[in-house]
Amino acid sequence: MAPGKFYFSFLCFLSLLLFLTDAVNVSHDGRAIIIYGQRRILISGSIHYPRSTPEMWPDLIQKAKEGGLNTIETYVFWNAHEPVRRQYDFSGNNDLIRFLKTIHEAGLYSILRIGPYVCAEWNYGGFPVWLHNLPGIEMRTTNNVFMNEMQNFTTLIINKITEEKLLASQGGPIIIAQIENEYGNVMGAYGDAGKVYIDWCASMAESYNIGVPWVMCQQSDAPQPMINTCNGYYCDQFTPNNPNSPKIWTENWVGWYKSWGDRDPHRTAEDVAFAVARFYQSGGTLQNYYMYHGGTNFGRTAGGPYITTSYGYDAPLDEFGNIAQPKWGHLKKLHEVLKSIEKNLVYGSVNETDLGNSVEATVYATNGSSSVFLSSINTTSDATVTFNGKQYTVPAWSVSILPDGQTEEYNTAKINVQTSLNEHWPNEAEKQPESLKWVWRPENIDDALKGKSHSSANKLIDQKEVTSDASDYLWYITSLHLDEHDPIWSDDMSLRINASGQVIYAYLNGQHIGTRGAKHGISSDEVEFKIKLNNGKNVISLLSVTTGLQNFGSFFDTWPTGLVGPIEVVGRKGEQTIIKDLSSHKWHYKIGLDGWDKKFFSEESSLNTKWASDQLPTNRSFTWYKTTFKAPLGKDPVVVDLEGLGKGFAWVNGYNIGRYWPTYLTAEDGCTNDPCDYRGEYSNAKCISNCGKPTQKWYHVPRSFLKDGDNTLVLLEEMGGNPSYVNFRTVSVGTACGNAYENHTLELSCQSRPISAIKFASFGDPQGTCGSFNKGTCESNKDALSIIEKACVGKQTCSIDVSENTFGSTNCGDITKRLAVEAVC
Ligand code: GAL
Repeated sequence: MAPGKFYFSFLCFLSLLLFLTDAVNVSHDGRAIIIYGQRRILISGSIHYPRSTPEMWPDLIQKAKEGGLNTIETYVFWNAHEPVRRQYDFSGNNDLIRFLKTIHEAGLYSILRIGPYVCAEWNYGGFPVWLHNLPGIEMRTTNNVFMNEMQNFTTLIINKITEEKLLASQGGPIIIAQIENEYGNVMGAYGDAGKVYIDWCASMAESYNIGVPWVMCQQSDAPQPMINTCNGYYCDQFTPNNPNSPKIWTENWVGWYKSWGDRDPHRTAEDVAFAVARFYQSGGTLQNYYMYHGGTNFGRTAGGPYITTSYGYDAPLDEFGNIAQPKWGHLKKLHEVLKSIEKNLVYGSVNETDLGNSVEATVYATNGSSSVFLSSINTTSDATVTFNGKQYTVPAWSVSILPDGQTEEYNTAKINVQTSLNEHWPNEAEKQPESLKWVWRPENIDDALKGKSHSSANKLIDQKEVTSDASDYLWYITSLHLDEHDPIWSDDMSLRINASGQVIYAYLNGQHIGTRGAKHGISSDEVEFKIKLNNGKNVISLLSVTTGLQNFGSFFDTWPTGLVGPIEVVGRKGEQTIIKDLSSHKWHYKIGLDGWDKKFFSEESSLNTKWASDQLPTNRSFTWYKTTFKAPLGKDPVVVDLEGLGKGFAWVNGYNIGRYWPTYLTAEDGCTNDPCDYRGEYSNAKCISNCGKPTQKWYHVPRSFLKDGDNTLVLLEEMGGNPSYVNFRTVSVGTACGNAYENHTLELSCQSRPISAIKFASFGDPQGTCGSFNKGTCESNKDALSIIEKACVGKQTCSIDVSENTFGSTNCGDITKRLAVEAVC
């Protein structure tokens, strides 16, 4: 056994023994987190529990463990747990304790980022909106009202985890906790009060005395003993503000999130691996993938405005929990190598040498053993360097790891695992969409159009204040008496609305006069609708719809929401423009939608509600649709295709699966067919796909929401659409491409399905990418395709020794040969 592997197994054994017997405080020095007296290399990944279901957690955590993680990180989501002040919810997806216990049972550690401000593309950054409405509150600064609430919630969480003995100091999994989140990025805007606040956060955290270290991310002046940590795409250049703080990377963004209108971001496996390897090369000892599993923003949890329901993040586990290849596998191999040299990394002496050609060598050595990183930050040319008398080729923008100081075992730019392309498989339980029979009923908007309301005021009020975010929907209604003698009266009149980051449906005297969705972003939007007023009384009913509340930025909590005003009637006569400001009129407010209040989506209520089965309307706004369907067979994740619909919400068996908006198309430009170049710094504008298409057409329906027999799907359609195309599918690998260098073993897997055919295979210098491979200029003399057919067809998984032994000799000269395979599942 290699010394590294022995050391690792010994540590596992020691840890197990101590888990079973005694609990030990977690501490740290300037080099690493120290657990059971040993400095450790920690490899962590974010999985946010409310973005999946308790039924999914064991599988996600197991896949994370198999992927080589030893730690799982999560935020704590305040508004999920305390939706109403002092009324708590820790059930279902919000069962934080069950999540932490699942991590513990899998033998992994956990990092608990309590926040309780979390950002996270989560509604209002995790703050409950009732907080905003407490008199005298100012958030994230020295303010007693806020600090009391923050302390109350933090104490609740600390008490809960302590009662359940979940801290490592009690024998539990939690080795690190976080207070606040990236406050350093916005602190300047809060002036001196900001500094006092962050000091207070630190002393409050310390006062809990939890026996594990606290971190503050992006807080370069973190008060001691808080460990300040780095977030970003690369953190190799980061240095903590205290020599006694280890170098920790709390968010390694493996991809990026999406807003409605955004194309799909993609960060390559090569670049993520490069960033990770550079981080450990430069003395980092703990990094966390943000996200390892992104998941789904169910219900109304998406942040905003305009964050999509999918929070896939291009993570190593996709939104549905499938292994995303090659990212998952390429990183797994990196983790194996890093763990094999753990002892050298955390205890070894460090020696850095510049080898020229943009190549840096770092040697970590303990008695008799040394491990080496060779990294190149050149973005275009590969380099050949001599190190300890031996020649090495280091591809551009890559890191080679030589665990024994001599032999390259891993290079971040050389992928030796399969690339999987997902397929959406038809529902074998019934033929959809044909078999889906729809019924419908209108949403009752008549009351609002006639002016009925819940409350009124002589001003326009911010939507958060009126609704406390109990609903996306708020009617602003006013009446206007005008006659033709009024100076504003003309043939050219319009209604001008200043709104903030919202969707607006506008009606005048019961007639729809227009709909506007602000382009994504938080911009104030001036919206103008042409109108024809009645001579006498007029009723203006404006429905303002939120799509997730702002979740980041300084004072983000105070950013206006809803119809902020002014709202004006504009009359134009020739050169003359006359404006009547309606902002301080008497405005009536009506919260929510009637069908939502009556729970048309719930199983019981949908039985008691009258649904029409004749003449299914299409393109009708504010319409409820309902159908029953059979769940797809098997265990693969289920998605529903909502293309054809406009915007709204969907429920399956009463579970709100999130906002849908397939008509929101992405920009046409920016996607190319060229293979994505992993070299050079990543930004989320690089390597994008899905141009000119629905931002999101597939919506996740977790298996646990489904049952045998009939299931119910209910849609609330706001804008108008056609449900006839809706169909349920399963999502899993459809194409498995292998692309491996010689002297490696390539595993091909169709996960739950057998490999049905081999479309392409060549050993030599094949060109192209998965889905469009071509033969190169040289090839092996045996028929690679039939060799792989024999080894793989009919099996779910097969393993191929990529070498001349298997494929025969080649006429490729002394290049490193590769095998490319495209298998059909
Ligand atoms: C970070 C923040 C995270 C998340 C991320 C982007 O700045 O800490 O919560 O919002 O950005 O996905």
